[in-house]
Amino acid sequence: MIKLNIRQKIFITILASLFSLAILLGWIIWDSLTNMMREDLINRGNNIAVHISETSSDYILFDDNYAVHQLITETYELNEDVRYIMVLDSNSAVYEHTFSDSLPKGIISAHSDYNENTSNAKTISSDEGAIQDIIVPIEDSEVGYVRVGMSEKQANQYIFSKMTELLIVTLIVALFATGVAYFISRRITSPIQRLVDVASGISAGDLSLRVKSIKNDEVGELASTFNAMADNLINSNNQIDTLLKQLQEKEKLRSKLILQLLSVQEDERRRISRELHDETSQALTSLMVTMRVLANEAKDEEQQQLLFTSRDIAADILRQIRDLAVDLRPPILDNMGVVSAIKKYIKDFKEKYDVDVSFYTSVTEITDLDENVALAIYRIVQESLNNVIKHTEATRIKVGLILEDNNIKLTVSDNGQGIKEADFMKAQAQNRIGIHGMKERVEVQNGSFTILTNQLGGTKIIVSLPLIQKGRLS
Ligand SMILES: Nc1ncnc2c1ncn2[C@@H]1O[C@H](COP(=O)(O)OP(=O)(O)OP(=O)(O)O)[C@@H](O)[C@H]1O
Ligand SMILES: [Mg+2]
Repeated sequence: MIKLNIRQKIFITILASLFSLAILLGWIIWDSLTNMMREDLINRGNNIAVHISETSSDYILFDDNYAVHQLITETYELNEDVRYIMVLDSNSAVYEHTFSDSLPKGIISAHSDYNENTSNAKTISSDEGAIQDIIVPIEDSEVGYVRVGMSEKQANQYIFSKMTELLIVTLIVALFATGVAYFISRRITSPIQRLVDVASGISAGDLSLRVKSIKNDEVGELASTFNAMADNLINSNNQIDTLLKQLQEKEKLRSKLILQLLSVQEDERRRISRELHDETSQALTSLMVTMRVLANEAKDEEQQQLLFTSRDIAADILRQIRDLAVDLRPPILDNMGVVSAIKKYIKDFKEKYDVDVSFYTSVTEITDLDENVALAIYRIVQESLNNVIKHTEATRIKVGLILEDNNIKLTVSDNGQGIKEADFMKAQAQNRIGIHGMKERVEVQNGSFTILTNQLGGTKIIVSLPLIQKGRLS
């Protein structure tokens, strides 16, 4: 379908209305003119016929053919519209006529039924167009009849010339109307067009645009409402900008706080680990040495056995404390690096839980890795492996660590039953922070954290962290 704009629609509507009006008027004029001309023709025909009827009755009574002939010929010649005149006797036989040759075929029977109660005119069609045939009796039909044929040819020519004039005038008016229609449609649509232009400009981002000086009508009202709307848009935008800035600042602060919290937590863990290793372990070792000396010196066997058992318990506690110290802050992470630390952790984990954990890495070690990034990776491996043991019946775990486009990509997949939405929500309601903590650690380092369901239906954690070298953390 053709798409028209408002201007074209108004233009076409005005022109269509004008043309419909012209056609309607033309038809009315043509119709009334035709009727008028026909009536006039019949009247004139009637007058002629009456005149001949009155004049010719005596001639006919005295059988003066010549006088009748003279009368009708003269009348015929004087009136252009008269196509023929016939005088008939009382038996409807032709007495005289004006046809130069014989009578046209069928003319007598075409109008023979004279009745004083009905119209005495009848339309006969001929090869020259319609003819109004008027019949008038002579002396109340006792002497005969006069028939006068009035041709519509001239009347039609007159109507045709008048209609041609009307058509020319209509065309001139239509031409003028086209100009007026164009002008009116322009006047109506140009303020709307201005509005459209400004609206497109604003939607393209230029909020300073306004619609200028539009008249005090509905479009003017629309324009001022539109301008007010644009002002409001700027205000709202400013408010959104301010809110966004505040939000960004808060987000920055939150990230900073989380980072600080994590670093404080790690410092604390390191301190406790060192304390456990340096102080508690040393004290326990001295205790064990003392116990052994005491046990060796004990006279009573029962007492000695008791001391040996106590020493074994102390040795057990020492082992647990050392494990705890390592768990809190594995020295290997600081000494050798994240890859070695993960390897060691997985080795111990496999022994402890008797589960199949495979580790794939594309590098032997990542040297000079930023401490926070290294810690994040190590803690995520720890938390994910513990989650598998804690929450699933998984028998296989796959850990992968690769370097890709200056990013460290860590994946941990298991063949367990996957994270159930309801369980996850429940854990959140209980303030469990394992997964949340992993996510935060990654996000403060500008990394990405994703949890998926893997092909086996188990869980897959994908972490990507920027490869930041030591001392280059912003
Ligand atoms: N590998 C996994 N397979 C299936 N479900 C898991 C897995 N990891 C986590 N979940 C589910 O997601 C929940 C949230 O885990 P999240 O680590 O946040 O908390 P948690 O392990 O329950 O407690 P927290 O880690 O704080 O000691 C868990 O309670 C568990 O239902
Ligand atoms: Mg957990």
